[in-house]
Amino acid sequence: MQCLDGSRGELNVYKRLPVTLVRGEGVYVYDDQGKRYLDLYGGHAVATLGYGPTAVTEAISEQARQLFFQTNAVELRNRQLATESLLNCVSGTYTGAFLCNTGAEANENALRLALFGTSRSKVAAMKGAFHGRSAAAGAVTEGNDSWYAFPRSPFEVVWLDPEDLKSLEKLDDPEIGAVIFEPVQGVAGAIDLPIKWLDELQKFCRRHGIVTIADEVQCGVLRTGPFLASSSLEREPDLVTLAKGLGSGFPVGAVLVTESIARRVSPGFLGTTFGGGPLACAAIEATLTEVGRRGLEEHVGKISSWLKNELGELGLALQGRGLLIGIKFSKSVHTLRHQLLEFGYLCGDAKDPNVLRLTPPLIITKDDLAPFIETLGEII
Ligand SMILES: Cc1ncc(COP(=O)(O)O)c(C=O)c1O
Repeated sequence: MQCLDGSRGELNVYKRLPVTLVRGEGVYVYDDQGKRYLDLYGGHAVATLGYGPTAVTEAISEQARQLFFQTNAVELRNRQLATESLLNCVSGTYTGAFLCNTGAEANENALRLALFGTSRSKVAAMKGAFHGRSAAAGAVTEGNDSWYAFPRSPFEVVWLDPEDLKSLEKLDDPEIGAVIFEPVQGVAGAIDLPIKWLDELQKFCRRHGIVTIADEVQCGVLRTGPFLASSSLEREPDLVTLAKGLGSGFPVGAVLVTESIARRVSPGFLGTTFGGGPLACAAIEATLTEVGRRGLEEHVGKISSWLKNELGELGLALQGRGLLIGIKFSKSVHTLRHQLLEFGYLCGDAKDPNVLRLTPPLIITKDDLAPFIETLGEII
C-alpha cells in the first residue's frame, strides 16, 4: 500500500490503476476478485512471453536449485551461454555484452563507454527521449528538470529535433562525444523516429567521431518485429542497450558493444553486483530460446499489421512499430484508460496525455485482440 498521507507504507511516488493483481496466465492477468484482464501493456513492455511461460519459469527454478547467486568475480557457465545467445541474436557488429540489471543502468554504462577516452564532455539526445532515472540517463531524458534533476548534470546535453534535418548541424561541435536515441520512442507515446533522419544522424556522427547509442530498452527484443529496431538503419549504432523484455520479467539489462569499443576496456572499468547473476542469465537464455522457437519475429510483424489495420478501420490515428503502438486521441486518454480497465483491458499511457500505449506480450493473437477492438470501437 502506498502511504498517501505520510503514514507508514510505500512511498507515494506512483500513479496507480485501481486494481490489485494476484496472478497471470498467458496474455491475461487476474485481480484479487478473480476478474480477468487482457494485458495490453505487458507490465511496461516487459512480459515478452506473457505470464508464466513454462520454459522461463522452469529455467529459473532449476537454476535457483543449482546455484541461486554468484557474482562477476567468478565465471558462470550459464552467463557464458546467455551472452553467447544474446550476441547470436544480433549482427556480428556487436562482439561484446555487458550484463546489468535495468534499462537506466544499461544506458548509464553505455554513456560511460561512449565518452571514455574521447576527452569530450557533451552528449546529444532527442526531443521526447526517455532513458531512465539515474544521473546520466536522467540527464538525457527530456524534461528531466522537473523529474530527476540533481543540482548539476554529469555532462552538458545538446537537444536534437528529429523532425528537423537542420538540427543535425548542432552536432558540428567538437565537444560532443556521444548521441543517444530510441529508434522508436516508447514513453513519449510510441514515436517512430524517421529512419532517413537517423541515417543522416549516423553519417554525421561518423564524420565527427561521435559514438552512437541506440536505446532499445523498450523497442528491442522483437518488440518492433526484428530483434533490434535499429537493424533497419543503414548503419548499426556503436552501442545498443536492452532491458525490459530480455528476461521476460526477470530484471536484466545489457549493453551491446562493437569490437573497437570492446577493445578499449579492461577489468575494473565497469561493474555490478547482481548483473549477469545466475537467475538473470537463466531468464535471458530461456527467453531468447523461446522467442526463436515460437517464431515471434514473424508473428509480431503479422499481428501488428492486422491490429493496425483493424484500429485504422475505427478511424484511429496510430503511431509506432510492431507491438509498440500509440493510439493518438484529440483529448486525454485518462478516462478511456479507466473505462477500458472496467471492461477488462489493461492499457498503458504515455508522456503525451492523449496517447494510449499498447505494448502487449508478443504472443498475443487475433482471438485475444478481437474483443478489445470491438469494445474500443463501442466506447469511442
Ligand atoms: C527507452 C527506455 N530506456 C530506459 C528506460 C529505463 O529503464 P528502467 O526503468 O529499467 O531503468 C526505459 C523505461 O521505461 C525506457 O523505456
